[in-house]
Amino acid sequence: ASGPLVLGIETSCDETGVGIVRGTTLLANVIASSMDEHARYGGVVPEIAARAHLEALTPALTAALAEAKVSLHDLDAIAVTSGPGLSGALMVGVAAAKALALSLGKPLYAVNHLVGHVGADVLSGEDVEYPTIALLVSGGHTSLLLVRDLVSDVELLGETIDDAAGEAFDKVARLLGLPYPGGPQIDRVAATGDPAAIRFPRGLSQPKDMDRHRYDFSFSGLKTAVARWVERARDAGEEVPIADVAASFREAVTDVLLTKAVAACRDRGVPRLLLGGGVVANARVREVAAERCAAAGIELRIPPLSLCTDNGAMIAALGAQLIESGHAPSDLSFGADSTLPV
Ligand code: KG4
Ligand code: ZN
Repeated sequence: ASGPLVLGIETSCDETGVGIVRGTTLLANVIASSMDEHARYGGVVPEIAARAHLEALTPALTAALAEAKVSLHDLDAIAVTSGPGLSGALMVGVAAAKALALSLGKPLYAVNHLVGHVGADVLSGEDVEYPTIALLVSGGHTSLLLVRDLVSDVELLGETIDDAAGEAFDKVARLLGLPYPGGPQIDRVAATGDPAAIRFPRGLSQPKDMDRHRYDFSFSGLKTAVARWVERARDAGEEVPIADVAASFREAVTDVLLTKAVAACRDRGVPRLLLGGGVVANARVREVAAERCAAAGIELRIPPLSLCTDNGAMIAALGAQLIESGHAPSDLSFGADSTLPV
């Protein structure tokens, strides 16, 4: 393996990620999640996430160094997510990264979390080509990007105007009485349901939405539609067909995600689609992505799931790419920016 040895730190949401790469070679990817601590609240609680990062970061760092069989002194640089994400959570990673960089005398690169998801692809071991459209779907974000160059030209085409896709899964699971996180639960229950049983709305897909919101997403109307449907059934004393509701909901989310992603590929003449984020674990999302990309002649790229969900290796990989393309390190005065643009 060749290239710079980079440590990456990711604390933007509920995963404490510490990864180490050499160039485009993955050496370590340690992830500690505080998911369980948020379960009884039905979603990530920022204060709990921040405290959990503080506790998990040093053990994760030690584990990553052991996994990569390197010492802190061997590092060429450190990269850290400076945003977007939860402010308090980001601050833990940023403070730790600055302390390491200062004490070790190593350059520090502040990187964007969403671009980090795109950067994960370079660790696939295959040649990665640009431009690509990237669809990033998790509990915290739902974004459609046009990536012409990983380190210098990333354009946000659209994003959710309300809930993230994963958040919608979590909320709908909750109203169906399924535990948190809801995505995997809905996916499991939906496997035996009829996706055509109920026609749920596809947010921002009407002709009137196509001017301003062609590549944006909205899931709160869908969530409300599911809630109303379930409520009506319960009021009528009917048994709620949970599998059909889950399958129909999953179909609506999947349809709108892939319709917009494929439209972006087509409109921009980009024959490549990269998926990232925890929702990529969804069986139907993967299936429909494969079908529609094949039909449209689009190359579909899906990194392994451990690199799709939030992790430090993707941040390290982006840091290594920045170094190799000659970017200067960040000035240590940067802070955590919860709304950092790409
Ligand atoms: O990327 P990720 O691990 O991190 C955060 O967003 O923090 O994504 C977690 C999200 C959760 O909302 C979870 O419900 C969703 O991804 N998710 C899924 C599936 N597995 C995880 N959503 C749909 N289907 C799945 N199989
Ligand atoms: Zn993420």
